[in-house]
Order: sequence, then structure tokens, then C-alpha cells
Amino acid sequence: MRPRTIKQDVYCLGAVDWDRRLFDSLIPLPDGTTYNAYLIKGSEKTVLIDTVDPEMEHILLKQLEGTSNIDYVVSLHAEQDHSGSLPAVLEKYPEAKLITSEKAKSMLMDLLHISEDRITTVKDGETLELGGKTLEFIYTPWVHWPETMVAYLREDKILFSCDFFGSHIASSDIFVTDEARVYEAAKRYFAEIMLPFRGAIIEKNMDKLAKYDIHMIAPSHGQIYDNPKMIIDAYNDWLQPTPKNLVVVPYVSMHNSTKEMVEYFVSALVERGVEVQQFELTGTDIGKLAISLVDAATIVLGTPTVLAGPHPVIANAAFLANALRTKAKFVSIIGSYGWGGRTVDVLAGMIPNIKAEVLDPILCKGKPKADTFEKLAQLADVIAAKHKEL
Ligand code: FEO
Repeated sequence: MRPRTIKQDVYCLGAVDWDRRLFDSLIPLPDGTTYNAYLIKGSEKTVLIDTVDPEMEHILLKQLEGTSNIDYVVSLHAEQDHSGSLPAVLEKYPEAKLITSEKAKSMLMDLLHISEDRITTVKDGETLELGGKTLEFIYTPWVHWPETMVAYLREDKILFSCDFFGSHIASSDIFVTDEARVYEAAKRYFAEIMLPFRGAIIEKNMDKLAKYDIHMIAPSHGQIYDNPKMIIDAYNDWLQPTPKNLVVVPYVSMHNSTKEMVEYFVSALVERGVEVQQFELTGTDIGKLAISLVDAATIVLGTPTVLAGPHPVIANAAFLANALRTKAKFVSIIGSYGWGGRTVDVLAGMIPNIKAEVLDPILCKGKPKADTFEKLAQLADVIAAKHKEL
């Protein structure tokens, strides 16, 4: 695709990665992604913001064929999906200075072996005059690495946000056209990389940005928001400290006993006015589970006991929930066992980051019986009551 104009003398470059299905060899990308770079031409200076994943470097270089000079290349974030083509761009433009945050400097040198003499660091709030256009750098640490910053183009009121507000969607549209689709993709992205830093850090960055008059948000993944209110409102909602009236039930079952317990329990919760999302983990896109963890007040893990502990698939989900530092206030475990094991102890030990009250687990020997269902109904009562107090 050729560079596309988003405002006068401001262009979107970059690559659409329709085929990528996994990020960091970990995060599912059901809709692919994009790596956006932006070219801004002031009357005196030209700047390129970010690059693309090195796999798609040739696309960016092709787009730059008509650009004879670049004065500055800005790296907002050192992760290679944005910085990976910097060496090639710097080689093509030997006079260009690489502008980045103080923390990013050593990271770019370590990750990409960029020579120190090419790098100029900017402080929080520093500006760069391009001639009729002024770029202001705003430090926004931990979205989602420590060195991350964004850039605000004052005259055009565009925020170049890199990962912040991004979404993994491959699309031929340059601007958001389907807000509902982007909302889900952006929430997935928020859950997977921003959620662990909520609580103060991301909120502080949001407060900082609230002072700016932003007419457009141009992220480095996904489409550009020409209605930025949509994504800003969404972030403010996802960052609310109080979780919602939602129970998430990730589970796995070997011989249907745990499944029977889960199905009874989920119905009992629904009957008590509690929203539930149930995930059978062997067939679940883990990103869907991550999305639900943004809002969940309670997590109930359903697992059989196998090899004397929780099923490894549920252990993976517990590890994820712990790493994401979810807002959940209550956790519990339900499941079936054959003769014994340490399922509860092992799982409880895996979630130290979740500062939640542990509700009495319900483990049943073999197939669930009447007293098992009674206990599950009681657990549903407890959860419904606790959610009302939130
Ligand atoms: Fe899109 Fe943190 O890289």
C-alpha cells in the first residue's frame, strides 16, 4: 500500500499483516495486525515516527522510495514490531537523527545494535520544531514497556500513541469504521498488555493525556481513531477499579464430572442475576478469556485432579490471570478428583498477585452427587451476595 494522507502533510505508512496469528509467540491474533509508521513533513524538517516489524521492512522501504530526505526518525517504543526496521531506515537516511526517550536509548542499542552517535534523547515534554508543525513528546511509561512515550502534533491535534490505544486488526481501512469490532480488539489488546499496569500507572498516563486537545489518535497497531472519544472512554471504563457483576469460569474436564459441576454452577449463578462467561479451555482462544478478566469480579477455576494436581491447561489459565493482575475480588475452585491430590494448594499458590478473597473450594470425589450440587448452589448464593456489596 502507498502512503496515505491522514492530514495535510501527515501520512500513514506501514504494513498490514493479514496472516500473523501469534504475537510474542504467545498472544493469539485472530484478526492479524498492522504496524503503522507515520511521516510528517514540516516546511523545514521531515520526521518518520516508528517503523515496522522487520519481516515487513521491505514494504516500508518501498513506501519511502519517494522521500529523499528524513531529518528525524522517532522511536516511541523499543519493541521490535515498531523498532525492528530502524537499522534499515537509518542506513537509507545516514543524516537522520534517531529521537527517543532516555530509557529507550540503551534498549535500542541492546536490541538492534544501533550506534550511540545516531541517537538523541528527548525529555518528557520536549518539543521538536518541523516548520509549521510542532511535535511534543510525552512520556507514558509502562504502556507496556518502561520506556514508552507518545508524540502529540500540536497544530493538527494528532496523538501518535504507538501501542497505547492500539488494536490488532488487519484491515484495508485506515480509519476506524466499525467501532464495535475495534472495541473488542482494543479490549483484547488492553487485557493482554496493559491490564497488569493498571491501578496507578496507566491511570497517570491517562490523566496526563486528558490535558491535551486530541482530535485524532494514530496508534501503531490497527486503525486510526478520528473519533478518539470512543477509545478514551473505553480505556477509562476498563481502568475502573471496581469490577463488574461478572463471574468468569475457565474450566477443563476429562470425563465430564467437572463439566457437569460447571454447567450446574453457571446456571445457578445466572438464576441469581449474575453475569457469567464460561470457557472450555482446550478449545478457547486465550485472548477471549483475557478480555473477560478485565471486568470479572470473581474467577472460579474448574479442574479435575490429574497427576496429583490441577490439570495443566487450567494451571496455564491461572498463570495468565495472575500475570494480568486482574481486578477480581473473589476466587474459587471447583472440580472432581479420583482418589486425592493437591489441586487446591497448587492452584492457590499460583495466583499470589490476585488480591482476592478465596471462597471455599468444592471438590467432589468422582461424579457429582446431590450434596455437590447443593454446595455449588450455596457458592452461587455467596457470590451473588458478595457482588451486590461491590
Ligand atoms: Fe506493538 Fe509493544 O509492541
